[in-house]
Amino acid sequence: MDATYNLKQDHVIIRRVRDIAQRCSDKLYANENIPFEDIEIISVIIEEFVDRFHHGKEEKAYFPQTKDKDGFGEDIRKFLIEHELGRRIALMLLRETKAWRRGVDSREPVARFLKSYAVFITDHTGKEDRFFDLIEKKRSISSREDEMLLKHYAACKDQVGGNARIDQMMKLIDYLYTREWMKTSPE
Ligand SMILES: [Fe+2]
Ligand SMILES: [Fe+2]
Repeated sequence: MDATYNLKQDHVIIRRVRDIAQRCSDKLYANENIPFEDIEIISVIIEEFVDRFHHGKEEKAYFPQTKDKDGFGEDIRKFLIEHELGRRIALMLLRETKAWRRGVDSREPVARFLKSYAVFITDHTGKEDRFFDLIEKKRSISSREDEMLLKHYAACKDQVGGNARIDQMMKLIDYLYTREWMKTSPE
């Protein structure tokens, strides 16, 4: 697996998270009951897997390595701004989820931020995938650089708790797919 393909594969997982967030939002808008813990799990996956791990690999390894090549700087600048947008939405989602836990009726804002995050994922991973396709087409990354990037990714993984924590994230995603509210469309 090379460094570009690695990020594309993350996007496949991230779009599964997107589908969970979207379904959860739809159900909340339809006034259906969703356990708090499930919403909290979504928030954790967004924070740890999508943001710290995946965006971390892009920001610390992949983007610095590619920003001076083939006029990619401008695209990368936009991706970084989008990461900040994603972080703001994730933070607001977390705040509203906590408030709801404390007894404030935050159904509407939680539903809204879940939906915003789903839109962010669709838009952002779509643009990056096209960017990655271009990098592959132009063969902008040498095999030596690829090797270095993969080592850097391994360090990024260690920073978020290593294989064990990432496996746990994958299991949490699978778990959410088994939940009743995830299996059916809103009424
Ligand atoms: Fe990104
Ligand atoms: Fe990405």
